[in-house]
Amino acid sequence: MTIKPPKKFFEPLAIGAPSPYRELPVALERMIHFFPPHVEKMRARVPDMVSQVDVLLGNLEDAIPADAKEAARRGFIEVATSVDFGATGLWTRVNCLNSPWFLDDVTEIVAAAGDKLDVIMLPKVEGPWDIHFLDQLLAQLEARHGVKKPILIHAILETALGVANVEAIAAASPRMHGMSLGPADLAASRGMKTTRVGGGHPFYGVLEDPRGDGGARGFHQQDLWHYTVAKMVDACQSQGIKAFYGPFGDFSDDAACEAQFRNAFLLGCVGAWSLHPKQIEIAKRVFSPDVEEVRFARKILEAMPDGTGAVMIDGKMQDDATWKQAKVIVDLARQVAARDPALAEAYGL
Ligand code: GLV
Ligand code: MG
Repeated sequence: MTIKPPKKFFEPLAIGAPSPYRELPVALERMIHFFPPHVEKMRARVPDMVSQVDVLLGNLEDAIPADAKEAARRGFIEVATSVDFGATGLWTRVNCLNSPWFLDDVTEIVAAAGDKLDVIMLPKVEGPWDIHFLDQLLAQLEARHGVKKPILIHAILETALGVANVEAIAAASPRMHGMSLGPADLAASRGMKTTRVGGGHPFYGVLEDPRGDGGARGFHQQDLWHYTVAKMVDACQSQGIKAFYGPFGDFSDDAACEAQFRNAFLLGCVGAWSLHPKQIEIAKRVFSPDVEEVRFARKILEAMPDGTGAVMIDGKMQDDATWKQAKVIVDLARQVAARDPALAEAYGL
């Protein structure tokens, strides 16, 4: 495969566009909170939401009816230009590349609010070619409208072909911010026999071996998304970008939402989508590291100031590798602490 020479990778793709980032800007993104920008009541809530979430995303794609697509785009622009987002991220999910709305979504939003927009979420990404197209288009629009910092791209991993190409998608451009699992579209694309938005399925599991005494055999549900999340995390982390769980659609089952988000967190994801206000708290709880874990991780860092050697703490062996794990947790805890005074105190940071 022919690849672009390293030096070229960080040149702007259009004269006058800002230079690509060499590293992602540091941002806490535990939840990406979706709002439908065509609904006036929802737009009116945005100024209050800013202090409650890490990222606000105006959704233009699925769940927005075809006859409201333009109103959603206009509503997003109104919110983007009139609200002060401070340190809270402002993202939009545009319609997919082959839809009749994609081009106007991107051109109108960058023209009107390019300097306020942090990230464009691109749905139904199938390969690096999709990223290259949006990358070039954004550079042209940034140059035309004098946008000062690069607008990042976040891909949704929600087609079978996208999963097959996940590593190439993650590496496609320095504009890549990260990726979210899109379990609803992915289930359809793969031909999975489910009717859900994320989460498990009662029939997907392992039956225990027959017991010698003829007693009842236990059946243990397995995680439908384990393989895809792990594959996505490796693809993202190896390119220095972030992995996210996507939506959890059963608003009547908070415990299952929490369990699914926690699996993703433990496997390396940094956040998830919140589609209902109560999922904001779930995501905050799950994607902020556990207080006891942070305290233990701090003990490891303190016991091994230069990160080498071997020590015992509470009967557990620590070495350079556990020091690195501890650093992941403490670095995240510091980001959380900077935004959340109560947790800062609990972490002792
Ligand atoms: C999200 O877009 C999904 O399809 O799950
Ligand atoms: Mg989808």
